[in-house]
Amino acid sequence: MRVRKRKGAEAMLAENPQYVILDPESYKGKWREVFGNDNPIHIEVGSGKGRFITGMAAAHPEINYIGIDIQLSVLSYALDRVLEQDLPNVKLLRVDGSSLTTYFADQEIDRLYLNFSDPWPKKKHAKRRLTYKSFLETYQQILPEKGELHFKTDNRGLFEYSLASFSQYGMVLEQVWLDLHDSDYEGNIMTEYEEKFSQKGQPIYRVEARFA
Ligand SMILES: C[S@@+](CC[C@H](N)C(=O)[O-])C[C@H]1O[C@@H](n2cnc3c(N)ncnc32)[C@H](O)[C@@H]1O
Repeated sequence: MRVRKRKGAEAMLAENPQYVILDPESYKGKWREVFGNDNPIHIEVGSGKGRFITGMAAAHPEINYIGIDIQLSVLSYALDRVLEQDLPNVKLLRVDGSSLTTYFADQEIDRLYLNFSDPWPKKKHAKRRLTYKSFLETYQQILPEKGELHFKTDNRGLFEYSLASFSQYGMVLEQVWLDLHDSDYEGNIMTEYEEKFSQKGQPIYRVEARFA
């Protein structure tokens, strides 16, 4: 997803340091201090315009959430949502998901979410998929032993690829949904993409996997 450049986005992020951490490398190993409590920390990589992360934060005030996106303008839309709801348990970072070990210490993060990640359907771009093995190595380092990764998508090709990638990495697939919205799963928080694709009648795939 490429979003058109938003005028003033950079200034907006800089004006809200209580929510947007512009120098995240300074807080490696100190994220509990940043939130001011010892609550678990869950991150979403590729959080887009923030509907999921803010919905989760409002529903679970006992959890701290960090939304991560590489695009400045996209992150500024997520900031709109955080500001609207004044959520103390959310921080936003504009960083690349491939560099998470620069910002987080080993085992500092309690759970990781990927939602509707870019599918990169061409084989030659497989390394860019957020479920490619080099990304899994990064996630494993910042998660605890048996740490969980929750992933949902409308893209069947990416879903099949990701299940295989998790398995080949030795991860355990705890639960798999082939049609999340037609299941008994409770507490689903929709993302922007989820709303768009499910309105078109596409099934939503979901998996909860954990590192072994
Ligand atoms: C297709 S959008 C999905 C957004 C949102 N999760 C949703 O479901 O509505 C994918 C998002 O991932 C971000 N992204 C892609 N590669 C990334 C990376 N390596 N690190 C961080 N964010 C990334 C993009 O900028 C984009 O906002």
